[in-house]
Amino acid sequence: MIQLVPESDWRKPCEAAMAFAQKQVAAQVERDPDFYPMYTEGGKWRHSKEAWTRWCDGFLPGMMWIFAKRTGDKKWFELGERYSRPLEERKHDRDVHDLGFIFFSTYHRWHALTGEQALDDVVVRAGQTLALRFKQKGEYLSSFMGPESLFIDIMANVGIIVYAAQKTGDQALLDVAIKHCLTSRKRLIRGDGSSSHEGIFNLETGEFLRQSTQQGYRSDSCWSRGLAWAIYGFTSVYQATGDARFLQTAQACADYYILNTPADGVPLMDYDFPPEVEQRRESSAAAIVAAGLLRLREAVPDQAKAVLYDNAAKRMLVTLATPPYLASETPGWEGILKEGIYHLDKNLGVGESVMWGEYFFCEALDRALG
Ligand code: GLY
Repeated sequence: MIQLVPESDWRKPCEAAMAFAQKQVAAQVERDPDFYPMYTEGGKWRHSKEAWTRWCDGFLPGMMWIFAKRTGDKKWFELGERYSRPLEERKHDRDVHDLGFIFFSTYHRWHALTGEQALDDVVVRAGQTLALRFKQKGEYLSSFMGPESLFIDIMANVGIIVYAAQKTGDQALLDVAIKHCLTSRKRLIRGDGSSSHEGIFNLETGEFLRQSTQQGYRSDSCWSRGLAWAIYGFTSVYQATGDARFLQTAQACADYYILNTPADGVPLMDYDFPPEVEQRRESSAAAIVAAGLLRLREAVPDQAKAVLYDNAAKRMLVTLATPPYLASETPGWEGILKEGIYHLDKNLGVGESVMWGEYFFCEALDRALG
């Protein structure tokens, strides 16, 4: 179970980590202009290993927009625009299920700072495009793996469909998003609040066939980053819709995380690793959960729960803001957070910095510091 942290202990390390994050991003832009990194290899962002799928391009500019908002520094506005603009065409991208990651981090943040309608139109179009992945039979948005596959990761993206539906008043679009969330809740979240990574459906009938995984230990296990996407995603969708079913699921997943994660707040890559397997931690899951819990504390009506989520998130941030997770004492390491894992079985980004870990760490620090 996660240990709680006194208020006086968290602010300083979080402020220092935010400053370090800005230093690392500025150095990356200087070193390798206009490159969109995904995960490091030996601490270096530029390498020749595969991407598996192209879903991370929004995270670097997303951090720039967070820094722009916090500092008001013109340099971050200019960089945010320079790195966001080339992504606009992805609003039509039907090959990935990640348009929420790409556009909430970029055009949505940019629009929040400027109010420019054309920027919001890009976010709305991306939401409409993502909805095209909806399978009427089975009632889910399919993952990039294929039409029969549902990923828990999509919960962290489906909010962009809710957003597009609310902006345009399109009830059919909203129904698609709600049905996807209800299917994910029913098929991928278990009675104890743990999550499955993937669900497989019969395309002819829509029948749910089984739970599965791509990145977790095995089909019936709980991959910690999947749980993180569930906590973040169900919380966001509850905040956008007010539908209490999603709050209940977000809390079930959050409570599972708090109860089953080591005291410092960083989970094993999979909660069901047997003892004979190397017990690897996964820092990006902790970063995503910290951001999710800081949203959940705003959403829960129960004050005691709000304090618990706030405190657990801060415990996690203090851990991440300190070596060995923070890279501040590793000379030559180009990322911010160490010990993330992209894909263990494919040996991609294992024990490395990963772009989504960097982004959600910055989001969580921003939410905590206010
Ligand atoms: N969405 C892919 C991942 O979490 O690795």
